[in-house]
Amino acid sequence: MLSGEISSSFITNWTQLISLQLQNNTLTGIIPSEIGQLTKLNILYLYSNQISGPIPAEIGNLKNLVQLDLSMNAITGPIPSTLWNLTQLEVLKLYSNNLNGTLPPEVGNMTSLQKFDVNRNQLEGELPNTISQLKNLQIFQVYTNKFSGSIPNDFGQGTYLDYVSFSNNSFSGELPPQICSGLSISYFTVNGNNLTGPVPACFRNCSELVRVRLEGNRFIGDISQAFGVHPQLVYIDLSGNQFSGEISPEWGDCTKLTMLNMAENRISGEIPKELGKLTQLQDLRLSSNNLRGTIPPQLGDLGLLFNLNLSNNQLSGVIPSSISNLLKLQKVDLSANTLNGSIPQWFGDFSNLIAMNLSHNQLTGEIPFQLGNLNLQLFLDLSSNSLSGSLPSNLGKLSNLENLNLSHNNLSGSIPSTFSGMNSLTSTSVDFSYNNLQGPIPSTNLFLNASPNAFKGNSGLCGAKGLPNCDSTLTGISTNRRRTRNIIIIAAVVPIVIIIILITITSLILISRRKPIWGGGRSIGRSDDDDTSQKLIWDREGKFTFKEIVKATEDFDDKYCIGKGGFGSVYRAELASGQTVAVKRLQISDDYPAERWRSFESEVRVLTEARHRNIVRLHGSCSTKGSMYLVYEYMERGSLGKVLYGDGEEMGWRERLRVVRGMAHAVAYLHHDCNPAVVHRDISVNNVLLEAGFEPKVADFGTARLLNPDSSNWTTVAGSYGYMAPELAYTMRFTEKCDVYSFGVVALEVMMGRHPGELITTLSSSSSSLVNEEDLLLKDVLDQRLPPPTGQLAEELVFTVKMGLACTRVNPESRPTMRSVAQELSAQTQAYLSEPFHSITMSKLTSFQK
Ligand SMILES: *[C@@H]1O[C@H](CO)[C@@H](O)[C@H](O)[C@H]1NC(C)=O
Ligand SMILES: *[C@@H]1O[C@H](CO)[C@@H](O)[C@H](O)[C@H]1NC(C)=O
Ligand SMILES: *[C@@H]1O[C@H](CO)[C@@H](O)[C@H](O)[C@H]1NC(C)=O
Ligand SMILES: *[C@@H]1O[C@H](CO)[C@@H](O)[C@H](O)[C@H]1NC(C)=O
Ligand SMILES: *[C@@H]1O[C@H](CO)[C@@H](O)[C@H](O)[C@H]1NC(C)=O
Repeated sequence: MLSGEISSSFITNWTQLISLQLQNNTLTGIIPSEIGQLTKLNILYLYSNQISGPIPAEIGNLKNLVQLDLSMNAITGPIPSTLWNLTQLEVLKLYSNNLNGTLPPEVGNMTSLQKFDVNRNQLEGELPNTISQLKNLQIFQVYTNKFSGSIPNDFGQGTYLDYVSFSNNSFSGELPPQICSGLSISYFTVNGNNLTGPVPACFRNCSELVRVRLEGNRFIGDISQAFGVHPQLVYIDLSGNQFSGEISPEWGDCTKLTMLNMAENRISGEIPKELGKLTQLQDLRLSSNNLRGTIPPQLGDLGLLFNLNLSNNQLSGVIPSSISNLLKLQKVDLSANTLNGSIPQWFGDFSNLIAMNLSHNQLTGEIPFQLGNLNLQLFLDLSSNSLSGSLPSNLGKLSNLENLNLSHNNLSGSIPSTFSGMNSLTSTSVDFSYNNLQGPIPSTNLFLNASPNAFKGNSGLCGAKGLPNCDSTLTGISTNRRRTRNIIIIAAVVPIVIIIILITITSLILISRRKPIWGGGRSIGRSDDDDTSQKLIWDREGKFTFKEIVKATEDFDDKYCIGKGGFGSVYRAELASGQTVAVKRLQISDDYPAERWRSFESEVRVLTEARHRNIVRLHGSCSTKGSMYLVYEYMERGSLGKVLYGDGEEMGWRERLRVVRGMAHAVAYLHHDCNPAVVHRDISVNNVLLEAGFEPKVADFGTARLLNPDSSNWTTVAGSYGYMAPELAYTMRFTEKCDVYSFGVVALEVMMGRHPGELITTLSSSSSSLVNEEDLLLKDVLDQRLPPPTGQLAEELVFTVKMGLACTRVNPESRPTMRSVAQELSAQTQAYLSEPFHSITMSKLTSFQK
C-alpha cells in the first residue's frame, strides 16, 4: 500500500541494488531519471502503480537489466531509443500504458528477448522486419494498439512461440507462414484486423493450441484443411471471415472445446454428428453460412451448452427432440432456415432461456403455452412462420420479456388481456402484424400507444391508435368476460397485496431502526429526466439525484476522492440531506458496445435488488458519455485491506472470525439466493468493507465483468492478482468455484495477517522436496501481532484455517460450496482438537485440502 512519488534522493543512494520491485502499490509521479544510476539492476518492476510521465532516456544506462516491467501504469510518450540498447533483456513488458510512437528496427538487437508485451497502448506504424531476428521469443503481444502494415513474412521462423497476439490493430496482408512452425503455440489471437490469405499450414499440426481468435478478418481457404485435431483447444472463434469448405468430423476430437464459433463465413455441407462428442462445449455458433441437411440429434449431448446459434443457413427437417436435453441453454437462435414441424412443448422446460428466435422458418401448429413458463428477457421471435391457433394467455407471464415478435403467421383469436402483464415490452418492441387476430387490444399504455405497424395486416383488431374503434357488441362481450375475470383476479390478488404491504412496512421499520441515516424523507429522485444522454437506474429507495452527487463532489473534484483502483476512482459524497454515499466512477471507452450497455443495465438491476446485511448496498447507477457511476452505501472504516494492514485499531481474533463468517454468508447469498446467481469475480481484501463494529460488507461485485471488453462469458483480465483461482489461467471462465477460491485466500489472509501467497501452492503441491514447509506450525503462520489464541477461540481459528485451505484446493470440483462453508463456519466452528494447539502443523490441516 505504498503511495506517493518515487523520490530521486533515495534512488541516488541505491547504486548497489540488483533488483528493485515496487509493483502493486499506488505510487504516483514520474520515473525519476536518476534511475539510470542503478547500473547494477537486473530486475526493475514498477508494474501496477499509477506512475505517469515518460520513460526516462537514462533507462538505457541499465546495461545489466534482464527483466523490465512497467506495465499497468499511465506512462506516456514514445519508448526512448536508448531502451533498445538493453540487449541483455529477456523480459520487456510495457503493457496497459499510454505509450505512443513506433517500434524502431533496433528492437531486433535484443536477441535475448523471450517475453515482449506492449499490449493496450497507442503504438503505431509497421512492425520492423528485424523482429524476425528475435529467435528466443516465447511471448509476443501487441494487441490493442494502432499498428498497421503487414506482419514480417519470416516472423516466427525457427522460434518456439507460445503466446502470440496481434488483435485489434490494423494489420493487413497474410499471416507469416512459419509463425507456428515451432508447433508450440498455445494462444494465438489476431482478431479485429484486415488480414487475408489462408491460415498457415503449420496450424494443422499445432497440438498445444488452447485459445485461437481469428474473427473479424478476411481469411480465406478450406476450413476442413486449415485445422486438425487439437486436444488442448478450449476456445476458437473463426467468425466473420471468408472461410469455405465443410466442417470436418475431426472437430469432434477437440474434446476440451468450450467455444466453437464459425459464424458468418461461407461454410457449406452438413453439421457433422461428431460435434456431439464435444461434451465441454458451452457456446456453438455456426450461423450465417451455407449449411444444409438436418440438425443432428447428437447436438442433444452437449449438456453444458448455453448458446446455440444455427441461424441463417439452409437447415431443414424438424427440431430434434434430443435438443430438449440442453437444459442450460440461455440463448437459442434457429431463425432463417427451412425448419418444419411444430414448436416442441419442451421448450417450456428451458428454465435458463433468456432469448429465443425461431423466426423465418416453416414451423406450423400452435404456440405451446409452456413458453409462458420461461423467464425470457431479451426476445421471443416466432415471426414469419406458419403458426396457427390462438395466442396462449400463459404468455402474459413473460413480464421480463423486452421484445416480442409474432408477426407474419396465421394466428387467430384475440390478444389475451393477460398480455398486459408483459411490463418490459415497449411500444416499438412488440409486433402482432400480418395474422388473423381480432377483437380489442388490451387497454394498457403499452398497447394503446404501440406503433400502428404492430397491428397492421389483422382485419379484426380494434381499439388502439390507428385502428378502428371497437363496435359495441364486441366490447360488451369482452367487458363482461373481463369483469368475471377481474373478480377472480381481485380475489386472488388482494390477500397477496396485503401481505406485500405488511412485509414492506415491517422491513421499512427494521431498516430505519438499523440505519437511521437513511430515514430522511426526501422526495424519491428520478434524476434529470431532461438530460437524455444519461441512462439511469436507481433502486426504489433512491432518495437523491445524480445532480446532487455532482454538486456534493464539486463535479468529482480530486479532494473528494477516497480511493483509486484498476477500474476507476471512488468519491465520498456528502449530500445536502446529511446522507453520505460512495460514488465509484468508471472510465469507459466511447465504443462501449450498445449490447453490453443492456447487459450492464440488467446486471445493475440485479445488484440493486441484492439485499443482505453483509453486502454493500448499491443504490443505483448512472452513466454519461465516457463514464459510468455506481452509487454505494458509504462505509466509515474503509476496506478490510486497509484495516488489516493499516495502523489503526487492531482487529482481534474475534473480529477476524466475524469478518470471515460474514463474508461467507454474503458470497453464499450471491451464489445461492440471487436469481440469476451472481458470481462476484473479484473477491479480495480491497473489496470487503467494514462497518463500525467490524461487520464486513462485500462490495464491487460484477464490475470486473461489466468493464471487460471481451465477450460476455470469457475474460482475459479481471479479478485481482493473487486472489484468482488457478484454473482461470486456462479456462478463462468464471464460476462460483473461482469465488470460493478467492474467498479462501482472503480467509487465510485475515488469519495470517499477510497474503498466504506461496503457502497455498506449497501446501497443495504434493512434491516432497518441500517437506520443511509442510512441517510449518500453525501457530507460526497465524498473525504474530496478536496474542496466540487459546481454548474455544483456538478451535475456531483452526477450523477457519482448515476451511480456507479447503476453499483453495487446486481442483475446483473439490472446493466446497459457499453455502456449506457459511453454514459450517456459523454452526460447526469447533475443530475438536486432539492435540495441543501449539503443535498442530499446517500439513496436518491440509489433509483437508487435498
Ligand atoms: C544519501 O547518502 C548520503 C551520503 O551517505 C547522505 O548524506 C544522504 O542523507 C542520503 N540520502 C538519503 C535520502 O538517505
Ligand atoms: C544507446 O542508444 C543511443 C540512442 O539510440 C545511442 O546514441 C548510443 O550510442 C547507444 N549506446 C550504446 C552504449 O550502445
Ligand atoms: C504435419 O504432420 C504430418 C504428420 O506428422 C506431416 O506429414 C506434415 O508434413 C505436417 N505438416 C506440416 C505443415 O508441418
Ligand atoms: C446469431 O447469429 C447472427 C449472426 O450470424 C446474429 O445476427 C444473431 O444476433 C445471433 N443470435 C443470437 C441469439 O445471438
Ligand atoms: C418482426 O419480424 C418481421 C419479420 O419476420 C420484421 O419485418 C419486423 O420488423 C419485426 N418487428 C419488430 C418490431 O422487430
